Amino acid sequence: MGRDVFYITTPIYYPNDVPHIGHAYTSVAADVIARYHRLRGEEVFHLTGTDEHGLKLQRAAEAAGRDVQSWVDEMAPKWQEVWRRLLIGYDDYIRTTEPRHERAVTEFLTAVHDNGRDDIYLGTYEGLYCVACEAYYTEDDLVDGLCPVHHRPVEHVTEENYFFRLSAYADRLLEHYEAHPDALEPEVRRKEVLSLIRGGLRDFSVSRTSFDWGIRLPWDARHVCYVWFDALTNYVTAAGYGSDAERFARVWPADIHLVGKDILRFHAVYWPAMLMAAGVELPRQVWAHGFLTVGGEKMSKTNATGIHPFQLLDHFGVDSYRYCFMRDIQFGADGNFSWESMVERHNADLANGLGNLASRVLAMLGSYYGGEVPEPGREASSGAIPALAPDVAARMDAHMGAVALTPAVGAVWELVDAANKYLVTTEPWSLAKDADRRDELGAVLYTAAETLRILAVLISPVMPEASARLWSQLGLDATPIGEQRLPAAAAWGGLTAGTQTSKGPALFPRLDA
Ligand code: MSP
Repeated sequence: MGRDVFYITTPIYYPNDVPHIGHAYTSVAADVIARYHRLRGEEVFHLTGTDEHGLKLQRAAEAAGRDVQSWVDEMAPKWQEVWRRLLIGYDDYIRTTEPRHERAVTEFLTAVHDNGRDDIYLGTYEGLYCVACEAYYTEDDLVDGLCPVHHRPVEHVTEENYFFRLSAYADRLLEHYEAHPDALEPEVRRKEVLSLIRGGLRDFSVSRTSFDWGIRLPWDARHVCYVWFDALTNYVTAAGYGSDAERFARVWPADIHLVGKDILRFHAVYWPAMLMAAGVELPRQVWAHGFLTVGGEKMSKTNATGIHPFQLLDHFGVDSYRYCFMRDIQFGADGNFSWESMVERHNADLANGLGNLASRVLAMLGSYYGGEVPEPGREASSGAIPALAPDVAARMDAHMGAVALTPAVGAVWELVDAANKYLVTTEPWSLAKDADRRDELGAVLYTAAETLRILAVLISPVMPEASARLWSQLGLDATPIGEQRLPAAAAWGGLTAGTQTSKGPALFPRLDA
């Protein structure tokens, strides 16, 4: 049933330009989810890639005076470089111009075309097209006569096209979403899609003849496959569709297609209908997040509001970057990006919060115990912190499992705050002045150090580098952080007395506003 592997996908991005932080938002979220499932001990397959066919790409290459293939060959590494610096640990990077994808699309098209229900038929398309979206619109869809997403003029097209009989799938789609309420998240998006389907579905064009940058239809080589039909198929290509049946059975269906809300319609309506027509099982879930906005508008290159991730990475570092976006934007809703609030968040939660906690505890272990973790004594396993830590871990776990990324991170920070307060109340620096209270001091510092160990585990999906550094500073490298598994790794008492810690450089240096 494909339950062996947790399969998560990002959209495949248009490489007509370099990524901005809006694209990176999708990829960071997908990576956090993927790392969390690895932490749960699951086998994970995390797929990303680039969507390299279609008119948008052909025009971008033409504008640059280049041939399209060499243009996309040059762009793909630029995207991969950004993902490398953001620690996006994908397992496969698919490019739709690869031969493996062309084979899968050919096979998929054939399966739909030959399904005996005439689901692909020849017709004439006359209407409006937005090249930036690579999507067809009606007059009613337009806002002030312009594309509703890009606010740019649409093009009038008349062409002989093959059509996909989407209209025949409305009932089956509704049945599917009613039987599987989790198949579409969050709830507002589910409602949106249901009403879209109930409003009636129009067949959509699956081929173009006016340009040739795409995959040829196997039964009519005058046509190239419509870019969205081609692109959506990437999710099965990479799972082995048409090339490796055994692997496909293990990996497919996808557990989560993570997408932005702008491309929900393609993933929640077109794609499942295409799969039904090809006789392939449907993905378990489509999860549509909101937009990063600038001044209330979706951040985009087309609207000239794109910020390259390196601009922020150079300033904040990768862990802070990943943390701030997951923490500050309620996952699922739109959220405004501002430099000031990111600095504020960094200083409050990371520099003063977790960073300060780690540096204080490690410094005290150094001064009072030569860096060795003291005996816990009886105190260190009772009290508020040892009770809170597993509770936080369980809540983080439940939220992450439900893709509630913001509350998951929020839960972890309850423990950070509680541990900082614990130090303020217990005042280990005062206990250290009294030789008679050595056991109490040991219990407090054991408690604090053990909390840091658990925190290192819990933050690892969001902040892989900081987590590994903290793990090393706690002297735990004998069993690498990457081998830790939830829930066991968050159980209280994992830290052994005598472990040699060492205070390294600050995890999160304070930033100037
Ligand atoms: N190529 C198609 C996807 C095909 S998937 C079979 C595409 N590419 S895209 O590059 O335009 O966008 C890819 C993803 O980036 C989408 O999920 C989109 O929502 C996301 N984002 C682009 N700008 C964004 C923001 N400003 N904010 C959040 N996500 C945004 O669509």
